[in-house]
Amino acid sequence: MPEKHAFSPPGREPSIKGEAITFTGITKRFGSVIGVDHIDLQVEAGEFLSLLGPSGSGKTTLLMMLAGFETPSSGSITLGGRDLTHVPPNKRGIGMVFQRYALFPHMSVAQNVAFPLKMRGLGKDEMAPLVEQALARVRLQDYGARMPAQLSGGQQQRVAVARALVFQPPVLLMDEPLGALDKKLREELQIEIKKLHESLGVTIIYVTHDQEEALTMSDRIAVMDRGRIQQLGSPVSLYHEPETGFVADFIGKMNFLKGVVTGIGDREAIIEVSGQSIAVPRSQFGGRGDLTTGSPVRVAARPETLSTSQSPDGAIPGEIETSIFLGSHRTLIVRMQDGTQLQIQSSSARGTDEAGLRGRTFVRLSPSSVRVFAGEG
Ligand SMILES: Nc1ncnc2c1ncn2[C@@H]1O[C@H](COP(=O)(O)OP(=O)(O)OP(=O)(O)O)[C@@H](O)[C@H]1O
Ligand SMILES: [Mg+2]
Repeated sequence: MPEKHAFSPPGREPSIKGEAITFTGITKRFGSVIGVDHIDLQVEAGEFLSLLGPSGSGKTTLLMMLAGFETPSSGSITLGGRDLTHVPPNKRGIGMVFQRYALFPHMSVAQNVAFPLKMRGLGKDEMAPLVEQALARVRLQDYGARMPAQLSGGQQQRVAVARALVFQPPVLLMDEPLGALDKKLREELQIEIKKLHESLGVTIIYVTHDQEEALTMSDRIAVMDRGRIQQLGSPVSLYHEPETGFVADFIGKMNFLKGVVTGIGDREAIIEVSGQSIAVPRSQFGGRGDLTTGSPVRVAARPETLSTSQSPDGAIPGEIETSIFLGSHRTLIVRMQDGTQLQIQSSSARGTDEAGLRGRTFVRLSPSSVRVFAGEG
């Protein structure tokens, strides 16, 4: 049975054999600053893994250690099972794309793409078909003779991708590659890079601080904060089962309400929120979930899991302050009696009762879709 990449789509043979990467106890200190704090991470061969986190959370530092441009303070990294500690950057088989285009301005597009091959000592005849193929992959086959300054930002970034892929590296690192582009172009290139990944079979580690981008593109996402991985999982599991308030807040829109644990059963815990008691399955508790009666908690609820009603039964009173029509749905901004503001997603269908979109209302939580986190936050 031939070995298959776990993440390549069925029915197509990938043209590059992606390799697995293992970070074990990786730490990077810059003097007294800890850039990366004891990270253990296993990236599968052919996977698309994103590092998502705020500025300064250690994303670039982690990539730089994998690429060989920074030396870990401790820990080890393997690529395809080989220990990388003493392997110089140019021998690691890693392609890189950065936020700024970083094309050589005095070289044509074809010369830029050929550069890594030239560095590896290939002759002109060997290079030409590889350059052509790499440019075709990013749909720029007719642009080889142009200079970088004659291309749009998105085209320049596609050239950078072609250059990173031309020597068929098993691993491609991308550090905010679309950060300098406008939203529409960014969305187009997200789809393009995702398709490229699927057809190639290369392992990609992709850095972004844009959660939507990470959700769109990734097989798995590692959410980073202060040099650590807060949570690692599929986009669906991070969205629906965040383990910490930080992850809940960072991915997607999230409302937070104050609550108190008033009872704990085997399967459910009773949480009081604004005078209403709700029975929340214990599976909805983030982290270790070791709560005691009387503990303050934060109850997190996505806008699409909240609903409003005219009836006070089992619901929390509030006041609709604004109703915003957004085409596919409507966002209601509701202020609760304790001053907390909630966003609630509601229908934007024609014929919606407009009178129900302002004034006094009652907000209903869905106990099976809230997440509960310890502490007052
Ligand atoms: N060469 C360096 N010297 C000193 N401190 C550094 C150096 N490089 C990074 N750091 C520090 O390490 C931490 C992680 O930085 P890093 O660049 O990895 O963050 P990042 O997640 O890539 O952020 P951004 O989204 O802003 O690019 C930060 O506190 C940063 O100031
Ligand atoms: Mg960075």
